Amino acid sequence: MFICIEGLDGCGKTTQAKLLAKKLRKSHNAVYTAEPSSGKIGTYIRKSYLYGEKRLSIVLEALLFAADRIEHVENEVIPALNEGCLVISDRYVYSSLAYQGAAGLSLEWIEKVNAHALQPDLAVFIDVTPETVMNRLKPKKSVMETLDTQKKVREIYLKFVEDRRLTRINGDKSENEVAKEVCKVVTKFLDAFR
Ligand SMILES: Nc1ncnc2c1ncn2[C@@H]1O[C@H](COP(=O)(O)OP(=O)(O)OP(=O)(O)O)[C@@H](O)[C@H]1O
Ligand SMILES: [Mg+2]
Repeated sequence: MFICIEGLDGCGKTTQAKLLAKKLRKSHNAVYTAEPSSGKIGTYIRKSYLYGEKRLSIVLEALLFAADRIEHVENEVIPALNEGCLVISDRYVYSSLAYQGAAGLSLEWIEKVNAHALQPDLAVFIDVTPETVMNRLKPKKSVMETLDTQKKVREIYLKFVEDRRLTRINGDKSENEVAKEVCKVVTKFLDAFR
């Protein structure tokens, strides 16, 4: 099984994905992975791009994230799945759709350049308002973290919730309460496949 956790910057994805992986480590061999990945392209995105002066060409940005995704899938996700692990990815293709879609690229084109990336079995969206995430303390904000960008990104995520491609969870609660909700959704999904 391949699960991804999605949402705005600072909504609690890393917190929740790691908690979930810990909770399901023994029972389901769960492992945590993240995008941008730890590969060469992912490292470039994290270290040089996200915290640079400003966003570059959005097409280039979309292609970088798509290329990193292929590295992530080939080097981390598929090997772990082949070992029988449950893979929990902190961000995945919906982040590309939401962020580069919000910047003006067509969702169809973004889907196309990501067509070779494995489809997730379950995609969970941790929903927190843009105002709340902008207020969560962060020493340095990335080039994506403006209120206007976060509002547009959330709108796209919510469209995917409507289309039932994403399962929404209210992230505006304590970490523990959100964790319980995430666990409930994931357990229900896994049980359905028993
Ligand atoms: N439910 C919550 N309520 C309040 N604060 C939270 C909650 N969950 C996480 N936080 C805090 O918000 C901050 C961001 O959390 P986290 O790093 O998990 O978010 P993220 O979605 O992974 O962010 P990013 O997109 O930047 O990677 C952290 O300081 C974390 O402790
Ligand atoms: Mg994170």
